[in-house]
Amino acid sequence: MASKLLLSRLRTLAKPTHHRFINPTPIFTLKYQTLVHSRPYSDAPQPPPIDSKPPSINGDNPLKNKKISSSLNQTELAKFSAIAETWWDAEGPFKPLHVMNPTRLAFIRSTLCRHFGKDPNCAKPFEGLKFVDVGCGGGILSEPLARMGATVTGIDAVEKNIKIAQLHADLDPGTSSIEYLCTTAEKLVEDQRKFDAVLALEVIEHVADHAEFCKSLSALTVSNGATVISTINRSMRAYATAIVVAEYILNWLPRGTHQWSSFLTPEELVLILQRASISVQEMAGFVYNPLIGKWSLFDDIGVNFIVYGTKDSE
Ligand SMILES: C[S@@+](CC[C@H](N)C(=O)[O-])C[C@H]1O[C@@H](n2cnc3c(N)ncnc32)[C@H](O)[C@@H]1O
Repeated sequence: MASKLLLSRLRTLAKPTHHRFINPTPIFTLKYQTLVHSRPYSDAPQPPPIDSKPPSINGDNPLKNKKISSSLNQTELAKFSAIAETWWDAEGPFKPLHVMNPTRLAFIRSTLCRHFGKDPNCAKPFEGLKFVDVGCGGGILSEPLARMGATVTGIDAVEKNIKIAQLHADLDPGTSSIEYLCTTAEKLVEDQRKFDAVLALEVIEHVADHAEFCKSLSALTVSNGATVISTINRSMRAYATAIVVAEYILNWLPRGTHQWSSFLTPEELVLILQRASISVQEMAGFVYNPLIGKWSLFDDIGVNFIVYGTKDSE
């Protein structure tokens, strides 16, 4: 039953969507093979249990005495805390995110301008819209979104990340208005915050409970608002490239940055979002061209991919 529903949803998604701003070709063409090789979500490896201890990423973590949030994975957060000073070092461990940023921003600009009926060619297309960047790290995504006119809230569970993000944003009047908070999506839901668009790029593979995390993203989104998520496919190709090549051969990322079992296939992500009242409208893959050192959007979702969905009306 679930696979029939998924099949029909993916068929709808596979309808050519013209990515007018970036590329006139259909971005997402779902291949039958993708479905054949996919595993039902119930078979997906489960993340390790959450520590019963409160977060201890930093001594002064404001999440310290709060109820444990379901999305927090202490092992993952400790990895980011250890390299927090390097967020804005374009040649450091976050180089892949810096290099990928223009490509993911092109997808965001194109899909969200279409969603909100804005002109993608104007300097500040997101003026008047409230965005939250969940798992913002040092603000690599939050800053350009603010420059594009959005009223941005950036949240991260690691206190050091938020401090670095704030210091960096304060250097430029175009970004100093960003609201940075050391918190979680779950806590923002408790605080009854709502946003026109909720973005979580390269975060879901680091959280403890994918489904609960997506439910929080959904709860933060206004009715008919937009959600953008990017992550890595749980494919053998992703294991070979995103882990073996990126972490062990090219040393782009510290070893152990990614756990293959925490990745989601596109089919799983579509299902999880659907159960959280978010309908995926468009999906694109990222491919890296080592000759020019650049990423581009492509219809190959075998490794890195990004989805845009809309929150069902309540
Ligand atoms: C790979 S980084 C991505 C940073 C940013 N989204 C970007 O793409 O530039 C993942 C970030 O998610 C944060 N994070 C992981 N789990 C989180 C959670 N449950 N709640 C909030 N932030 C989380 C980490 O601290 C880290 O900064």
